[in-house]
Amino acid sequence: MLDCLQTPAGEEERMSYLQWTENLSVGIPRMDDHHKKLVDLINQVFDAMSGDATSAVDSVLSDLLDYTRYHFAEEEKLLAACAYPDLEEHSAIHRAMVKEVLEMRTRYLNDPASVPASETLDFLSKWLMRHIIGKDLRYRPYAEGQDGG
Ligand SMILES: [Fe+2]
Ligand SMILES: [Fe+2]
Repeated sequence: MLDCLQTPAGEEERMSYLQWTENLSVGIPRMDDHHKKLVDLINQVFDAMSGDATSAVDSVLSDLLDYTRYHFAEEEKLLAACAYPDLEEHSAIHRAMVKEVLEMRTRYLNDPASVPASETLDFLSKWLMRHIIGKDLRYRPYAEGQDGG
């Protein structure tokens, strides 16, 4: 799945964008929509980093952080509503993920050159994909049919 993110040397400008695919579906359309939006924001971060404007990167990273916090809060509400047994562990992972992105943003703002666009896309892509595949998909059997009927 992550292989599609790898680019042959010298073709950075043609780097693949992150894509949401059906196999990432958690069975709750609203959560899938959130995940698609996160994919879109990560692609926007990559686009902004491929340009020169530090302010554009900061702005889209802020959007990504805001939306990530919103999604995590909504997801945790859903998991609480369906009595998901691993909610506490899942919430702790969410908090750690937000912290990681905050740290990346600080690193970028202190020294943009220290955070290359391709590395950032790679980091954020893996961050999101590993979480959806490794953690979010586990709540599917508990949450299916629980979100607004
Ligand atoms: Fe999650
Ligand atoms: Fe999620």
